[in-house]
Amino acid sequence: MHRIGSVELALAEPVPTPTGWVGRPELLEAVLACWTMVDKTDQPLTPRIVGRPGMGKTTLAQAAAASLNVPVYIFQCNMDTRPEDLLVLPVIAENGRIAYHASALVTAMLEGGVVILDEANRMSEKSWASLAPLFDARRYVESAVAGCRIPAHADFRACVTMNDDSSTFEVPEYIVSRLQPQLEVDYPERDAELAILRWNVSFAPEDMLSITADFLEAAHRHQLNYSTRDGINILRYAVKMQKAGLETDNMAALVRAMDAVLGPQCRDFASGTQTPDGPADEEDGTDENEEL
Ligand SMILES: Nc1ncnc2c1ncn2[C@@H]1O[C@H](COP(=O)(O)OP(=O)(O)OP(=O)(O)O)[C@@H](O)[C@H]1O
Ligand SMILES: [Mg+2]
Repeated sequence: MHRIGSVELALAEPVPTPTGWVGRPELLEAVLACWTMVDKTDQPLTPRIVGRPGMGKTTLAQAAAASLNVPVYIFQCNMDTRPEDLLVLPVIAENGRIAYHASALVTAMLEGGVVILDEANRMSEKSWASLAPLFDARRYVESAVAGCRIPAHADFRACVTMNDDSSTFEVPEYIVSRLQPQLEVDYPERDAELAILRWNVSFAPEDMLSITADFLEAAHRHQLNYSTRDGINILRYAVKMQKAGLETDNMAALVRAMDAVLGPQCRDFASGTQTPDGPADEEDGTDENEEL
């Protein structure tokens, strides 16, 4: 419970943050730099972490947050997120009275924790508007539901992740200007991606890890939407099929898993004949006939 004036707020629970961040330490350092205070008059920045789906945006935010050793909260944004969901929700209590429940965001503000607004560009402008004062020098929100102003603890930190896919809203310019800087989680280099695969699927044999890393590297070069997450899922499924006795050969298990995870069109790409969207790009200097 936390009291603001006459209003009692029930707080949300922090999330466990078991995630590690492998490779590309500069991305982790960039998030932490945003949250560093240079002197008493300084303010933390709220970076927006952008990139294609499945490349590590949420993982990066979680890993950075975990390294601060404060409670971490994640608010999963969607197109139905209302300002009261973001801030304070009224709930009918057992005695018939109204109890006020602080969101993950407001709980982080009160507890001096970190909040990750995940997939934030799925929210509408109305919800964003309620956050404008939080992400500038004012550092507070106004809850219409609880009828109070809620100031952020000095240790409060935030970041947002945003997906490049199409099922999202355009974020209003005045909000974008408060979510700075932009940190891009782009495709990792092959060796970094191999390390990520190995870290996440440590029980997969080395040759399967290496073939999957090669496949992803080629896919990234062709700007295909195959992600690190796809690679992890392919490896997990291939190893599970082997464990269940459905496949014995490593390569056969991988091909079957690729079919199931990415669709059979990925085979055309993997064998170098064509990309799923048409013939392989001849102008980018890549070898169309590369065999994986
Ligand atoms: N650098 C990394 N270190 C460890 N694991 C990683 C790293 N990058 C990606 N992963 C793993 O890849 C998977 C996808 O990452 P994540 O969920 O963070 O992607 P995302 O960019 O947030 O995707 P989406 O846009 O769909 O939300 C996770 O299983 C995560 O553990
Ligand atoms: Mg994510």
